Amino acid sequence: MNFLDIHAHILPEVDDGARDMETAIKLLEMLKEQGVTHVIATPHFYPDTDNVEQFTETVSKAYNELKKEIEYKDLPTVYLGCELRYFGGMGKSRAVKQFAIQNTNYLLLELPYGAPITKTVISDIIDIKEVLGLTPILAHIERYSKVPGFKKLLKLISDGVALAHINAGAVISKEDAKLCEKLIKGGCISYLASDTHSVVNRPPYIKQALDTISSKLGRSAANRLVIKSNRLSDEIEGIYEQY
Ligand SMILES: [Fe+2]
Repeated sequence: MNFLDIHAHILPEVDDGARDMETAIKLLEMLKEQGVTHVIATPHFYPDTDNVEQFTETVSKAYNELKKEIEYKDLPTVYLGCELRYFGGMGKSRAVKQFAIQNTNYLLLELPYGAPITKTVISDIIDIKEVLGLTPILAHIERYSKVPGFKKLLKLISDGVALAHINAGAVISKEDAKLCEKLIKGGCISYLASDTHSVVNRPPYIKQALDTISSKLGRSAANRLVIKSNRLSDEIEGIYEQY
């Protein structure tokens, strides 16, 4: 069975993730040990401070170098995506399309921390789906559980407007384990992701998280997450094959 990790800061020297090629390879080795077969590299893009051309150039270079480095190694397949930080009006900005996960209509969206989920945020997310034709995947949704308007995010998910992932680290943490269980049970979570940044401080915990979900919520709950990740990797591979 394959497993696709949809959120990982594994590209070397582009953001606060892997600081060099050696770290990138080590993270891929760790992911592989945990059963991950496919990974989407998702470097941060902050619209307030980052420059699109510079970002595209730096990220493509790092991605191509990493692909070359792992070409003959038995490591997970790496796809290119991005973790795009929310900005007001993004639902009507055609430029957002270039940040979608490689050749797909999925967008990994990071909401600002601690800020309330306002009507503008909600209508932007709806527009991402309806105007831009992209399916937003809300990154680490567990982080927003205490902000005003969190329930509106859950409503977007139940309405089929957005998808969401939880971080594997949250599933095995003391603080967020119960919340993650509740979100999974409530059918709000499509994906489990590592959001790994580094070998020591923010390593991947995919296997531990799947084991935890399996022991607390039953094997079928863990399997559902694996199956959804498989469907997405099949979709991406299918798109690749058409090229
Ligand atoms: Fe991230």
